[in-house]
Amino acid sequence: MNVLLLGSGGREHAIAWKIRKSSYLNNLYIAPGNAGTAQLGTNVPIAVTDFGAMKRFSLEHDIDMIVVGPEDPLVEGVYDFFRDDEDICHIAVIGPSKEGAKLEGSKDFAKHFMMRHQIPTARFQTVTSNTIEEGKAFLHSLPSPYVLKADGLAAGKGVLILEDVEEAGRMLEEMLHGKFGSASRRVVIEEFLSGIECSVFVLTDSSSYKILPVAKDYKRIGEGDTGLNTGGMGAVSPVPFADELFMEKVRTRIVEPTIEGLRREGIDYKGFIFLGLIKVDGEPRVIEYNVRMGDPETEVVMPLIKSDLLDLFIGVTTETLDRRKLEIDDRTAVTVMMVSGGYPGPYEKGKEILGLDQVTDSILFHAGTRRKENRVVTDGGRVLAITSYGQTMDDALERSYCSLSRIRFERCNYRKDIGFDLCKL
Ligand code: AMP
Ligand code: GLY
Repeated sequence: MNVLLLGSGGREHAIAWKIRKSSYLNNLYIAPGNAGTAQLGTNVPIAVTDFGAMKRFSLEHDIDMIVVGPEDPLVEGVYDFFRDDEDICHIAVIGPSKEGAKLEGSKDFAKHFMMRHQIPTARFQTVTSNTIEEGKAFLHSLPSPYVLKADGLAAGKGVLILEDVEEAGRMLEEMLHGKFGSASRRVVIEEFLSGIECSVFVLTDSSSYKILPVAKDYKRIGEGDTGLNTGGMGAVSPVPFADELFMEKVRTRIVEPTIEGLRREGIDYKGFIFLGLIKVDGEPRVIEYNVRMGDPETEVVMPLIKSDLLDLFIGVTTETLDRRKLEIDDRTAVTVMMVSGGYPGPYEKGKEILGLDQVTDSILFHAGTRRKENRVVTDGGRVLAITSYGQTMDDALERSYCSLSRIRFERCNYRKDIGFDLCKL
């Protein structure tokens, strides 16, 4: 098979790494890719939302399957674009239709979907500029803290959690007046849920499904979960608190009603569903849906999948996923993200990365990197994900931190406490 993978982060490097191992693979192209994916296939300079260029490239290179990493092309309808054009409808796209992608593209859509299918989540109210007063009244009916979410995609920055009800009211107005552009023209106010979070990934062919290893990511920049939110500073999988009983509840109360709900509503969905869950008094509740894999969770989930990923993807596109086997490694995987100094605020790019060839005990997934002549230089906030296996989480962490100590670039930063909260549980 010839595969075109969309995206350029650590997630896409990890997916490329896994696809490369497939016995079905002929050629792998990554658009636009990074210095890491360039070692596994051919990077092509096509933007992930340039569907016209994708069509031309796919026809020229006899592409059989498009695997979508990030959410933007899905929300913009890449699946529908290929499905509805007779020249390219033979090319399978792994990802939901535009309607399915609303589960991530609109928080209001996702909340109403959950209501329709009795999927446990936080109480909420959606507010527009015509209903500010009702919104404020809802805020006053809730205990502190207050959760405000921009309805649309806001590059992971659209959620505010505020202690003071008056301030929450002011922020509600700011959001509705364009704080996050058109993404916050509608705002979802939510009841705050207190508990521990995890990410559950499901692959579905729209009738059957496979649950992939559960992961936990570390979103804040600072140790002890302090400071600003980032794209993710590290991840571990599996997650000790996501035990059998919890996962059974996730399966019956969330995964199955979600897939059944999509089916009943006639929503075409052949791809990943990412459930952002919170465990409250032992019960799972949905914090958010995403319609893609997580980053950096993918950098620990892919290494734990023993089965051939393209075999699973063929199962998705031919609706025969129930006949495919998903085998999981019984080890633990962790990843620690090295980031540019200053991130998630402003940072410099183009710093030479040294020591990459010194690492033998870990897998290096490139996130923000690029080749410059014979060197690899930084090219983003998140630079490298250092993934290791271990019999225990401690083992795996020791390997990643040891590998990390061999890599250098100017002003690099990382969290020293990935997984530590779970060791104490
Ligand atoms: P989201 O973009 O919806 O995943 O929200 C970003 C982060 O905000 C989540 O990972 C949670 O840590 C936090 N969050 C979102 N919704 C809630 C909620 N209802 N209660 C508590 N924390 C929340
Ligand atoms: N790590 C969280 C995300 O990918 O949205």
